[in-house]
Amino acid sequence: METKSSLVLLQKVVAAGKHYIDTCFLEDVRVICINKETKKSKFMPFKVMYDNNRQFWLKNETWEYYLAGDELAEIEEKIAKLNSRQERPVTEETENDIISQNLGNEYINFAAMPEQERVEHIKECKNRLDALITQKPRQEQLVTEALVETTRDAVMHNYASLMDVMNLAEDEAKNQTRDMVEGTRNLIKASSQLISSDIFNDDLMNALVSKSNGTTIQHMTRVYLKGLAFLSYYNKLVSSSSIINKLRIVFDEEYHNFYQTLLPHVHPDDITLERVFLGGMRMIPENTFYNWAIGFLVHDIGKAAAMEYHEGEAAYNRDIVVDHVNVGYSSIINKTNYPKDASLIAAYHHEYYGHPSGYGFFRTCLDEHKKINPQIKQDFCITYDLESMMEYEAMAFFPAKILEIIDVFDSLTDSSRKYRKVMTTEEAIATMREEFIEKHHKIDIILFDLFLKFIRETASP
Ligand SMILES: [Fe+2]
Ligand SMILES: [Fe+2]
Repeated sequence: METKSSLVLLQKVVAAGKHYIDTCFLEDVRVICINKETKKSKFMPFKVMYDNNRQFWLKNETWEYYLAGDELAEIEEKIAKLNSRQERPVTEETENDIISQNLGNEYINFAAMPEQERVEHIKECKNRLDALITQKPRQEQLVTEALVETTRDAVMHNYASLMDVMNLAEDEAKNQTRDMVEGTRNLIKASSQLISSDIFNDDLMNALVSKSNGTTIQHMTRVYLKGLAFLSYYNKLVSSSSIINKLRIVFDEEYHNFYQTLLPHVHPDDITLERVFLGGMRMIPENTFYNWAIGFLVHDIGKAAAMEYHEGEAAYNRDIVVDHVNVGYSSIINKTNYPKDASLIAAYHHEYYGHPSGYGFFRTCLDEHKKINPQIKQDFCITYDLESMMEYEAMAFFPAKILEIIDVFDSLTDSSRKYRKVMTTEEAIATMREEFIEKHHKIDIILFDLFLKFIRETASP
């Protein structure tokens, strides 16, 4: 980038790629703010301004934002070093390589499409599913293939649409993504209808997804389909069987200790199933179901296209990994008309009941809230309801707790994982029980037990 002049417009710097934003954020870069009227200038930390507004460099009546040329040179040096640490030359090809690994070669075509074409394609995907809904008898292979392909395409379209509006102001962005949001909602309704029938086959789905390339896209496709299948299963279980009574019967023996540890301020006699699920364990109404499905579909959309999410290796940068929940949340809420539930699912899907190894928006807000009200405590573990979540009545949001389980399970069993040993289903289950429930109370024990029931019943014999 041109650094000859002593000041470089910040908007130009961040337009060069997400890694420039990441580096400004992580390296505590100072922004030069010049008052348009008085021409007076002041320094502000990039991090502070970015935390306050994810696009603060956009059109502003009062201020213009710049970086000093030497500061920019340092940033570029750091980016170059980071790339060379990964032992790759700093070229555009490298960035494209990473994008292809994360999003697949096909993503390049999706990114180049005009918005209208994307919206048309989403409609075609929906029509394809509608045709299968009315078909009788349905063919398992055809249905699963259609679900996998339309989900993968929907993820890429949503990703590309969001990338296009990242630098637009809120209203303009929402206007531009409106049809995509509407089309995706309709597609989700159709895929929910297909998934909720008994035809969903987990093994077949995994085999079909692994044929496509692009690890982030594969992950989001599997998480959406598996998440939806599990939510449907959960609804059937809660409505048609005596599962709630069964859980009550074994509660003291199997679950009491786990929840008492999470709620130490609650009297032991008051630790019951009603204390775990605020308002009682219940079915998910149809509209809420769709809202949550959107959250599953876009949950990792904050992952930068050209960023490697190294896990378990030297180049792992926790700050960058952590930031994907903030970017996901702010993009969904500021750039689309997707429901608030969906943005909060992206924001909360690594909270792990407040465990220090987790991260997320909820604990950040809670910490802030505790400054005003230090006495505040959560009296319940999980809520189905957004309002009580915002009132800090519960420790976790139901769909985010479901997503955590699906997300961890998918990471452990993902066959294209480069940095970690790939586990079989049984190894992953054992690891999750040991590491995420027994040693640490990260995922929810009751929801995990229901998930196991689901896995056992949907796996091929
Ligand atoms: Fe994530
Ligand atoms: Fe994820």
